[in-house]
Amino acid sequence: MSIVVNATFIYDEDISIIMKSLVVYYSRSNITKKLAEEIARKTDSDIEEIKPKVNYHGKLGYARGGKHAIQEKIIDLETLQYDPGDYDLVYLGAPVWASKAANPLITYIKQNEGKFTNVKFFITAGGSGFDSTLEQLEEKVGVKPQKTLALTTKEVKKDLFNSQLESFLE
Ligand SMILES: Cc1cc2nc3c(=O)[nH]c(=O)nc-3n(C[C@H](O)[C@H](O)[C@H](O)COP(=O)(O)O)c2cc1C
Repeated sequence: MSIVVNATFIYDEDISIIMKSLVVYYSRSNITKKLAEEIARKTDSDIEEIKPKVNYHGKLGYARGGKHAIQEKIIDLETLQYDPGDYDLVYLGAPVWASKAANPLITYIKQNEGKFTNVKFFITAGGSGFDSTLEQLEEKVGVKPQKTLALTTKEVKKDLFNSQLESFLE
């Protein structure tokens, strides 16, 4: 009795490792959201919007936001869809509030402590507080970002960010 083994070996030099990426953002007035959606579209990433249970809208909400950002207040968030621990790269984005990252993103980072390995930060602001916000994010995440992107509200509104976005995504 004989056994015939038929084996086919396939060698493909083009097999590449597929990197999974997630874009996570908080946005109060859709500026950071616009950027987040552009990043997700260009990188084919999953996208997660952080939705706070605290109301940060209107004049009272603005004041509350500034106070909570300074306090780095941890708040309740609506249920999230994705686990950042499942991704090779996580893009984290938020507006600058009182020269810090808006605290809904700080809350998200706290909730997912230890799950970040590769990160990139993107932030938007009227024009100030970029450096302090990026430093705070690096400290909270505990990982040095591969890249950062800091844009003014005006640059995002007027679509003046193409070349900066390209180098951020490289
Ligand atoms: C509570 C609060 C505090 C803010 N603090 C700053 C600040 O310190 N520096 C600055 O340049 N812009 C500040 N801004 C403006 C926002 O960072 C800016 O408009 C941002 O692009 C809004 O993004 P969003 O639409 O994604 O929420 C603040 C806005 C809010 C609501």
